[in-house]
Amino acid sequence: MRIVFIGPPGAGKGTQAERMIDRFGITHLSTGDMLRAARQAKTEVGCKADEYMSAGQLVPDDIILAVIADRLTQDDCQGGYLLDGFPRTLGQAEALDRMLVQQQTPLDVVLELQVAEDELFSRLAGRGRADDKPEVIRQRLVAYRQQTQPLLEFYGKQGLLVSIDGLGTPEDIFERITAALDALEQD
Ligand code: AP5
Ligand code: MG
Repeated sequence: MRIVFIGPPGAGKGTQAERMIDRFGITHLSTGDMLRAARQAKTEVGCKADEYMSAGQLVPDDIILAVIADRLTQDDCQGGYLLDGFPRTLGQAEALDRMLVQQQTPLDVVLELQVAEDELFSRLAGRGRADDKPEVIRQRLVAYRQQTQPLLEFYGKQGLLVSIDGLGTPEDIFERITAALDALEQD
């Protein structure tokens, strides 16, 4: 299965991804994790990305697309994957479509995790990642609303979008996701 996860910062994409890779035997591809690893390794990409990540802004599409393009063709992606935090702009989504047409590997579903903003702040305040300061969270939310939310319509038109209520315990939400994916597999 090839799945895209869309949701605002703190929606629980990473939390649910960990459960989903065990259940469905797919590979977790988080562009945020890849960029943090590159930053820690002090690579050129990592240092460039840090300027944007620290400010809560999206890293430019060309950097992200270079990071993800090779990754999708690697062996561990052939049995399916979960894209967590990518694509995040229309430009990224269109580039992904082109890659997938070329590889003849269409997406199966785009899952949106819906969580209200006040809940996002309290979740992220309890975590404490470098970009979890209130002013940076606010900017990440602006980026989400302005640059990522338009993807919901883009994937809705393709008939791929399934929205999941992201409020509740992680176990509740995982059940909603698996029920939605099981329903898709039966179609
Ligand atoms: P990224 O790493 O993708 O971060 P994000 O989208 O802001 O989301 P988070 O990872 O903070 O939240 P999550 O939805 O994974 O929630 P989690 O499960 O951790 O991106 C970081 C930065 O990298 C971006 O700002 C950008 O600069 C750059 N970047 C990355 N990809 C990019 C791209 N494609 N294009 C351009 N730039 C890109 O949960 C959050 C907290 O809530 C945790 O503490 C968790 O324990 C808790 N929690 C989870 N579920 C629940 C629940 N049900 N109830 C209560 N608490 C919960
Ligand atoms: Mg995450």
